[in-house]
Amino acid sequence: MKLSSANINVMVKACRKAAKTIIRDFGEIENLQVSLKGPGDFVTVSDRKVETILIDELQKARPDYSILSEELGEINKDESYRWIIDPIDGTANFLHGIPHFAISIALEHKKEIICGIVYDPIKDEMFAAEKGNGSYLNNQRMRVSSRSKLKNCIIFTGGPNSQSKDRDLSMKEYNNFSSNVLIPIRKLGSAALDMAYVAAGRCDGFWQRNLNYWDIAAGIILVKESGGFVTDFDGENKYVQNRTILVTNSKINNEMIEVLK
Ligand code: IPD
Ligand code: CA
Ligand code: CA
Repeated sequence: MKLSSANINVMVKACRKAAKTIIRDFGEIENLQVSLKGPGDFVTVSDRKVETILIDELQKARPDYSILSEELGEINKDESYRWIIDPIDGTANFLHGIPHFAISIALEHKKEIICGIVYDPIKDEMFAAEKGNGSYLNNQRMRVSSRSKLKNCIIFTGGPNSQSKDRDLSMKEYNNFSSNVLIPIRKLGSAALDMAYVAAGRCDGFWQRNLNYWDIAAGIILVKESGGFVTDFDGENKYVQNRTILVTNSKINNEMIEVLK
């Protein structure tokens, strides 16, 4: 990997250690105990083990940094630096033995994301980005795709979740793309990897409602450092507050906003 700042090294090291547990547990998926956290949102024993490893490793290297992690919540320390962690993004895939999920870690400095990694342990794909230094997939520099017409694109989405209002809106948006624009829409089940794939130019855009910050934090910097756009459904930058995220290459942002209306 070409990025080698001290913080990226800390994140990658923590991630590779946690990945060993994920790979081992994925191999024994039938023996894992699971509990139901909420509709469609399963938390596995493995999830918690992975989170503990990540937090232990990150805290060993950076004892003063604050943490926001999906299962554990907030650990408030130094106000200027904060890790944002999703130990397993794509838990439903993991539980069903579908090899498509990732560890996602981002680092904020003064509320701005400065580093992010999304790691797919099964495919051994490390997507990493650092503010001002670009983004990489393993050792290869990443760029978003250059397709300029939505009709030639593949678009990712996810959800809808259980809230009925959003379910209707999400279904309407999905139908706009699949029936009106007639393009392939994919739901692969990991928002972090969806965004990493836009960053890598494997797909051209992604939209979703109601994601949490840990689902998207690392993906945001991956896409930005690959030359893509991250907006809300109105093309503004209030995607965290509005909980509507639209991620695209640099050419189809406006066309996607029109379809989402
Ligand atoms: C989920 C995944 C999924 C998205 C869900 C998320 P989890 O995260 O990112 O793609 O559609 O909204 O909750 O629960 O697997 O960490
Ligand atoms: Ca997640
Ligand atoms: Ca998760």
